[in-house]
Amino acid sequence: MGALNQAAFANSLAGQQPTGALLRHGVVPMPNLAWTPEVERETAHLYEKVKAIIPPVEWPFHAPYVKAINDLKRERNAVILAHNYQTAEIYNCVADVVGDSLQLARLAAASEADIIVQGGVHFMAETSKLLNPDKTVLIPDSRAGCSLAESITGADVRALRAAYPGVPVVAYVNTSAEVKAEVDICCTSSNALKVVESMGSDRVIFLPDQYLAKNVQAQTKVKIIAWKGACEVHERFTAEELLRYRADDPSIQIIAHPECTPEVVAVSDFAGSTAAMIDYVKTKKPRRVVLVTECSMADNVAAETGGITEFVRPCNLCPHMKRITLPKILDSLVYMREEVTIDPALAGRARASVQRMIDLG
Ligand code: 13P
Ligand code: SF4
Repeated sequence: MGALNQAAFANSLAGQQPTGALLRHGVVPMPNLAWTPEVERETAHLYEKVKAIIPPVEWPFHAPYVKAINDLKRERNAVILAHNYQTAEIYNCVADVVGDSLQLARLAAASEADIIVQGGVHFMAETSKLLNPDKTVLIPDSRAGCSLAESITGADVRALRAAYPGVPVVAYVNTSAEVKAEVDICCTSSNALKVVESMGSDRVIFLPDQYLAKNVQAQTKVKIIAWKGACEVHERFTAEELLRYRADDPSIQIIAHPECTPEVVAVSDFAGSTAAMIDYVKTKKPRRVVLVTECSMADNVAAETGGITEFVRPCNLCPHMKRITLPKILDSLVYMREEVTIDPALAGRARASVQRMIDLG
């Protein structure tokens, strides 16, 4: 590091501990965040993508961050993986890859970048790190948790194994690396049924989502032993509220995520992962649709489908997903924080559980 860089390094670290990632990747100055004609010109094509969602008066607040983040991604050879629940400005304007948990896990495994910034919650960033042990994985706010991941620990899984000796254990990816290290295989909402049936057992322990477990149980003869976790966003939807939409408009299409209760799934026209829900809207082009899931997804699908479908939004916000913002993503890329690390004592076993799922295809 040259003398100038040393000084910049010292300044940038005022009030914070240097992390391994900052030492490895070096220091860059915080970009200028003014709304200038140059910023307006260089981000105009991105505003086109979100103009139906973000009013013109708000764009000057987002655009300087969008430009700074996209410039820094190139400079640092970084990619941003964004879950379908990320806000419109993240999903459409700075993400390199968007998708559901399975797509993000697969694309994380294929990434050529030196640095991965996870636009999503902590378990997703851990999955990226498990699949990219030699890369720097950053999460813009490590408090971005998940009620499902927090509902179970590694010790709970060991207790389940003791209570049901020999019964294979399938974990939804919405779990910590500590839990993944204790299970036989992971699954996501898009492959849960396939994974359960691949275990070759008449009984399977399925954790931690009690509702996804019940929704899978409805489709298989395998006896599912469930944990008691729930998604705090999806469990709030009720069949009654959805039936009111249908009573008002019998031709409306109701599409739900399988983290919803079986009662909600039963009154829906389709249930699937966030990616499957998006595909359904893009392929079937319904006139009106109720997306029974997190709020940002309707914005993101609406931006991509350009007004063909009218979205009715009884949505609930995921407070964890919403911790990720453009300013925090920029801080991640400038200060290389917050770096995701996994205890080496469990990383190998946790990685094997995720890899078995990916190998299933
Ligand atoms: P998907 O895998 O369907 O994107 O779901 C992840 C999630 O956290 C939904 O709440
Ligand atoms: Fe977790 Fe639910 Fe938020 Fe998804 S929507 S991250 S399952 S709390």
